[in-house]
Amino acid sequence: MDPHHDARTFDDILQARAARRRFLQGAAALAALAALPAGCGETEVRAAAPRRSWREGKSSLRFQPLLHGADERMHVSAGHAASVVVAWGDALLPGAPAFDPAKLDGESQRLQFGTDCDFIAYMPLPRGSDSSDHGLLCVNHENSRLHMMSTEYKDHRETLMHSTKKHVECEMAAQGHSVVEVRLVDGRWNVVQGSAYARRLNALDTRFRVSGPAAGHERLRTKDDPEGLTVLGTFNNCAGGTTPWGTVLVCEENINKVFLGGARGTREQRNHSRMAVGEEVEYSWSRHVPRFSLANELNEPNRHGWVVEYDPYDPASTPKKRTSLGRFKHEGATCAVDPDGRVVVYMGDDDEDEFVYKWTSARPWDAADPAKNADLLDDGVLHAARFDADGSVTWLPLVHGSGPLTAENGFASQADVLIEARTAASLLGATKMDRPEDVETNPANGRVYVMLTNNVQRTKVDAANPRAKNRYGHVLELDPPRDAQGRAIHAAAKHGWTVFLLGGDPADKEQPGRYHPDIGQDGWLSCPDNCTFDPLGRLWIATDGGYKKGMCDGVWACDVDGEGRALTRRFFRSPLGSEVCGPCFTPDGTTLFVSVQHPGEYDANGGYKGINAATPTSRFPDYDLRLPPRSAVVALRRDDGGALGG
Ligand code: FEO
Ligand code: CA
Ligand code: CA
Ligand code: CA
Repeated sequence: MDPHHDARTFDDILQARAARRRFLQGAAALAALAALPAGCGETEVRAAAPRRSWREGKSSLRFQPLLHGADERMHVSAGHAASVVVAWGDALLPGAPAFDPAKLDGESQRLQFGTDCDFIAYMPLPRGSDSSDHGLLCVNHENSRLHMMSTEYKDHRETLMHSTKKHVECEMAAQGHSVVEVRLVDGRWNVVQGSAYARRLNALDTRFRVSGPAAGHERLRTKDDPEGLTVLGTFNNCAGGTTPWGTVLVCEENINKVFLGGARGTREQRNHSRMAVGEEVEYSWSRHVPRFSLANELNEPNRHGWVVEYDPYDPASTPKKRTSLGRFKHEGATCAVDPDGRVVVYMGDDDEDEFVYKWTSARPWDAADPAKNADLLDDGVLHAARFDADGSVTWLPLVHGSGPLTAENGFASQADVLIEARTAASLLGATKMDRPEDVETNPANGRVYVMLTNNVQRTKVDAANPRAKNRYGHVLELDPPRDAQGRAIHAAAKHGWTVFLLGGDPADKEQPGRYHPDIGQDGWLSCPDNCTFDPLGRLWIATDGGYKKGMCDGVWACDVDGEGRALTRRFFRSPLGSEVCGPCFTPDGTTLFVSVQHPGEYDANGGYKGINAATPTSRFPDYDLRLPPRSAVVALRRDDGGALGG
């Protein structure tokens, strides 16, 4: 059997039969209830309703839902196929060796597809077209854990103590970003070998230009870069975005975990403490690379935690760290265009009690002359969100000199405000959120959807974060004001907001989920992370945390309006120990690309003890005892080639 095509296993067939059986039982129960007088049997109708709802037309989605569950394989709804497009270690650039877990080093890895794939942008080829069978996959690589890559380490602790330089360089080359040319042939996506577009951005040897208000600032200068204008490396690249002018935004998220040392008593104490720099060390890079030691370079952390912009259609272009968009743990960056042509970028800062942001451009983008947009992201205003109980969200501008953002509070310039965006937003009174992940605009209705993944540390609730110790996360829906033609004005100072759904099992006594009343026992999700919209504007959500409840993560879809609003149903289930990220449709909606990240790293209860590259809970996608599990980009398609969701 082709190991890259493991959808629709025997288990799927059994599940499909079980669902069919339950549907028939539900239909019979409903027929009986229909004969009862009004008001009788309401409880039973509610109990039966979840099982019937998707077939009764309440949702516009027509695929058969998957049930919850957990095993080492991936699964997709009946009538669909899931196939691996590209996986960690696959050869990408000229001279790349074949993947060999016994020979992990930076020299090989910098030519291969990275690990822990996350954000995916599908950029059509040729540029400017809406081709759905030929394009570039622009993919982030978020993390790396040597004990899951090499059998030379028994656990994470051992990698911190004993990592080799060769392996650290492999990790640094494995993070970052990949550009992969792909083509659809006979219903199957293939990597184009020898592509002139193939590219890697990484932490090891890629140089980035710094642009915007903090470029060249003394807090960004180091021994290697006394001008503070050229940074070596990007890492912990989580989600991202695309711009209207065809560039890609790559976000730098948990950058603090590579730095060793403290900043107590230095001018960076407040800053590094707020970003937990030196407090949550997960990587041993500082053992071999001096710039990751705070004792050696106090400013190095200030050169990371930004949004990077690069042009995937020009492999020779220099990627830029856009400091105008602020420095924090960037999950993603989603662009919207206002009727006046101004660009708004929505962003989440994925940490407990951190904020939702948006950035508004100073001038409109130019559709006729792309060169004029080259540095549009350098000039604009960053805002943080304050959610009020009256259903409004106020966008608070982070502008030096206004309100508390002055020298008395440690902000001598706009560069200081941007470097310490978290502290600036706190002083302005932004609302502490339950780990903001993706913030995405729905082109079909102009509304904005905020994935709040969880926050077990929350003690004080508020209207927008209504659960203490929020284990399962929730989704907010923002509604910007409209112009006379009904078009959303994203740059407006105030939006409306509402809770779209509360994650978790609706039957959970302690922390019940809240969804459409017909959600059913298998339709709920946990820990929303990334999301996207199909061409009809329906919401597709990828999760990170389902495995902790004895069920694997996956992709769920629902309508955003009408009778099927928030009526989520599972479309895809990922292998044990993995999360799903980066959902991205082709323009015609016939392929959904997703990243299966860190397969095999946890058991069905979220436990990780005793699990390493020799003992993974899944060996996705190869299922070869000689190979460790490998994160991979997967293409999900209907067997008949039609648009997903029906
Ligand atoms: Fe990298 Fe916020 O997930
Ligand atoms: Ca992740
Ligand atoms: Ca994420
Ligand atoms: Ca996450």
